[in-house]
Amino acid sequence: MTTAELADRAAASFRARYDAEPDGVWFAPGRVNLIGEHTDYTGGFVLPFALASGIAVAAGRVPGGELTVCSRQESGDPVSVSLDALMPGMTTGWAAYPLGVAWALRESGQRPGGTRIAVDADLAKGAGLSSSAALECATGLALCELQDLNVPRRELAALASRAENDFAGAPTGIMDQAAALLCEAGHALLLDCRSGATEPVPLDPAAAGLTVLIVDTGARHAHTDGRYGERRRSCEEAARLLGVSSLREVTDRPDVADMLADAQLRRRVRHVISENRRVLDTVAMLRRGAIAEAGTLLSKSHASLRDDFEVSWPEADVAVDAITAAGGLGARMMGGGFGGSVLALIRVDQREAVVGGVAAAYAERGWPRPAASVAVPSAGARRLR
Ligand code: GLA
Repeated sequence: MTTAELADRAAASFRARYDAEPDGVWFAPGRVNLIGEHTDYTGGFVLPFALASGIAVAAGRVPGGELTVCSRQESGDPVSVSLDALMPGMTTGWAAYPLGVAWALRESGQRPGGTRIAVDADLAKGAGLSSSAALECATGLALCELQDLNVPRRELAALASRAENDFAGAPTGIMDQAAALLCEAGHALLLDCRSGATEPVPLDPAAAGLTVLIVDTGARHAHTDGRYGERRRSCEEAARLLGVSSLREVTDRPDVADMLADAQLRRRVRHVISENRRVLDTVAMLRRGAIAEAGTLLSKSHASLRDDFEVSWPEADVAVDAITAAGGLGARMMGGGFGGSVLALIRVDQREAVVGGVAAAYAERGWPRPAASVAVPSAGARRLR
């Protein structure tokens, strides 16, 4: 589905739901993280790019101070709250993301007014493609532009992240919101999560005869289920024991992990340090046009996430092995872990063999055939109409 079609559909559900025309339609993309996993919340490097698919928000101003949200993908009546009454913990489920953004805007001193919103998506939920960040960022842009709130994109990313942490209760980092708002077409985004500095890095796999393939393993995850937060706390604890403010401070000291008495913490730190290095190495390869070489780093990232950080899941490991066996250049699990998608770097002509290989490996285990799609580095969030 094109974004224009998605915008039409979002506007149509707005009309059907509220019997009025929306004032506009805004869009934020899902993201693929090429490399740099579980590094963002400890001040490290990440290298995501925006997908062509994402979340559209049709929105219209209304008099008064109510915010009403509904979604084409969610059953049930629209959720309506008074903006003055927004409070963390007041709601759970999907509506916490858009409501949380309005709350975070208010916390920052902005005053969004009465708004009605209809959400629509062409992005799978729980597939590790950051549909929640896309929902937050599309809502944030809509509220800001509709109400003339002057919030620079970087700040909006931070507010959307705050909404997710403090309102929706998911202790995630800044990567997904930054990707949704700051990515550019034909580029990945190098984000230094310590300084907030960003740099677009040219990424055109097709021009190199390559494809980034996303395989949805079908396993689902939730960042609120405790395991993600547990990894984050381990990194904070390791930094404390090492006497640094974040693991980023020890990027150039791979030996430092050995100073920790606890074997599990040593593995966690080893992952973070090596992953930061892999991000920078990948950027160097992309800059010299050697995309294919980055495949090895993707596979190393997977091994590190599986063995040291221990956030992979069986369907991801099987997919990665099958992709490698079919000749793929590299593959790894993506996102927070425990479910979602695997990313593979393959030659264009390998697509059938790779998809077939994964499907056969899944069939052997009685698992359903996974969906596979091509990820094209696309533009960040914007107004569609
Ligand atoms: C999730 C979070 C991100 C990041 C990744 C792991 O996608 O939302 O902030 O921590 O997991 O790299």
